[in-house]
Amino acid sequence: MMQYIRQRLPSSATRTTLCALCAISITLLSACSSSNDDSANETSAGTNPNGTTDAGGNTDDIGNTDTGGNTDAGGTSTDSLAELPNPPLSEPPSENDEPIAEDANLSSISEFQVVRDPGPRIPVVLAPTLTQADFDAGPLPAVVITPSDVDPNTNAPPFFENLTDVEAVAGEQLEIIYKPVDPDGDVPGMFPEELPPGASFDDNFDGSKTYRWQPLQNNVGINEFTVTAIDPLNSQYRTVRTIRIKVELPEDLSTIPNVAPTLEEFPLHTVRENDLIVLELKGIDLNGTTPSLELVSELPNASFVQHPRFEETYTLQFTASTTGLLNIDILARDSIDSSLTSVNSVVLSVLPSADFAREGVRLKELAAARNIQFGYASLQEFYHRPDGGIYAATAADEFNLVTPENSMKMDQVNPLPGRYQFADIDNLLSFAQFNSMEVHGHPVLWHRQLPDWIQDAAPESIEGHMREYIVRLMSRYETSINLWDVVNEPIGDNGGFRSSVWFDAIGESYIDIAYRQARQTAPDATLLLNDFDISFNGPKADTLFTMLDGMIDRNVPIDGVGFQMHVFSDFDQFDEVRANFQSVADRDLDIYITELDVALSDGATFQQQADVYKNIVEICLEQSRCKAIQTWGVSDQYSFRRIFNPLLFDRQYMAKPAYSAVQEALSTQ
Ligand code: XIL
Repeated sequence: MMQYIRQRLPSSATRTTLCALCAISITLLSACSSSNDDSANETSAGTNPNGTTDAGGNTDDIGNTDTGGNTDAGGTSTDSLAELPNPPLSEPPSENDEPIAEDANLSSISEFQVVRDPGPRIPVVLAPTLTQADFDAGPLPAVVITPSDVDPNTNAPPFFENLTDVEAVAGEQLEIIYKPVDPDGDVPGMFPEELPPGASFDDNFDGSKTYRWQPLQNNVGINEFTVTAIDPLNSQYRTVRTIRIKVELPEDLSTIPNVAPTLEEFPLHTVRENDLIVLELKGIDLNGTTPSLELVSELPNASFVQHPRFEETYTLQFTASTTGLLNIDILARDSIDSSLTSVNSVVLSVLPSADFAREGVRLKELAAARNIQFGYASLQEFYHRPDGGIYAATAADEFNLVTPENSMKMDQVNPLPGRYQFADIDNLLSFAQFNSMEVHGHPVLWHRQLPDWIQDAAPESIEGHMREYIVRLMSRYETSINLWDVVNEPIGDNGGFRSSVWFDAIGESYIDIAYRQARQTAPDATLLLNDFDISFNGPKADTLFTMLDGMIDRNVPIDGVGFQMHVFSDFDQFDEVRANFQSVADRDLDIYITELDVALSDGATFQQQADVYKNIVEICLEQSRCKAIQTWGVSDQYSFRRIFNPLLFDRQYMAKPAYSAVQEALSTQ
């Protein structure tokens, strides 16, 4: 039987998520968090990267060695896998999908060749476009947000008088009066969610406000506009009303005024002196045409080019050579009437390099000394962001393990059958290689961020598609990625299996099939199962252990558990984390803390946040099977929980108390 030694990566994957939006009950709430936890088994050879023998020793029953006489590499009980679909259900990646070199003036990276996907990017549709049927369904109900200390029987919520859906004509001025009423007497306050460009929400000084908007060609279709009324007695007691506005073109198109184009809003970014800065600037013309952009400010050695693939985007690349607030003026010119222009300012805060210097030893070095890895989830295309330079420098200094935050999600990688986008992953790999980081593949299978085509595929084809996808993704990166979240978030919120395209079509066995396929495709890789809310007691943790035991019994090749750990700063179930880690270790599996971030709870201090980080790092260090800790991002600037400022670096890339706390925890023996 062929023996192999699987490279062992440090793992840390505990992810705990607490839905802590509890002070308020909201009628509509989206999911709070998710997580991935992975732990990786050793091979029976039991050798770790330091060449020492694995004290835990791996047993056959997790599936690292084949007891059934299988002689495939890794002997991982993949023999129960059926043949892959032949012919394939969808076209595999081909030369036509191979990334090609990107122009050097489009990114902030000069150390290696940045690549791009060859075709036009397939857009990911975030919000489905509303249809006539939605409009015909009638007005949306009001959503009342009731704080826990309000009794609606004694204090009724405010409501809007005479509000309904509206039909409008492009080019004509629309006026809608908003008059919130409180049944208990006083006059409620109100605010609009987001005003479309050129619209206003004007006070009539009689308790009402008027929404004024001139929709144009860009707005043809069904639009939504949301206003929130605030209870006069309790400002957290609110009623949210969304109305739909159907905009149609007039018969005589010449009645629509041509308006001056503008620039898409560009928020303030902090950048580092002498870094290569890249700004992707987009012109907007509400008449539906594409404006041209011109650089007005004098910027020495700047390159300002229309993006070769995205007509409305221009890329400005320059080196920030002076510190302070930098105002860059950009002129947008109408494509039909060239005299119609507007000048728009973009502001950057340029800080001297010294401001980014940090005390003490870098996290990856401290972690290495403790025999674990310290990693992060990388922002997709960080090299196309204004602050890509300082982002990359901070990541390279501090981390030696990286997970793609989004670029490996199936909707990105395989947006259409037979169509693949690998460039963003390939660039991350180049970055990782340049900076001696390992890469953690995430996620192979998930229930979210899926392309439409797989969600619409016939149920009986899903298993075949799933296996094809596993093979295509994992084999492409077989030599560069040794650690994978094969199945992400398989456990439902109340325990049991989570509904997903995979589970719904294949049933429970999708997990076994996925791991067997993964092992067959990447025999040497560490295969994790990643989830959230499994680091503390509850139905999800119970299901995890049942699931693992079943997989072990069935000789399914799994190596470890990833604990996501998107927690809050009032998290205190550390004993449960310790115990759940131990339960994973007892099953001879590794532990990875895969997506750590600590959201600041209401009124909490950065020190409380730091203490949670410290406790979690300490628990990982106590546990010999805990192999790595990854934070879910670098700076609060780009965190998916940005409003809670959950990461080690603030929006200006300054180390927070949590950073020093992690340093301290990693240094204390
Ligand atoms: C998140 C990303 O951070 C967001 O940018 C994206 O919009 C949604 O996905 N659990 C996971 C991660 O396994 O992939 C999720 O990442 C966060 C929760």
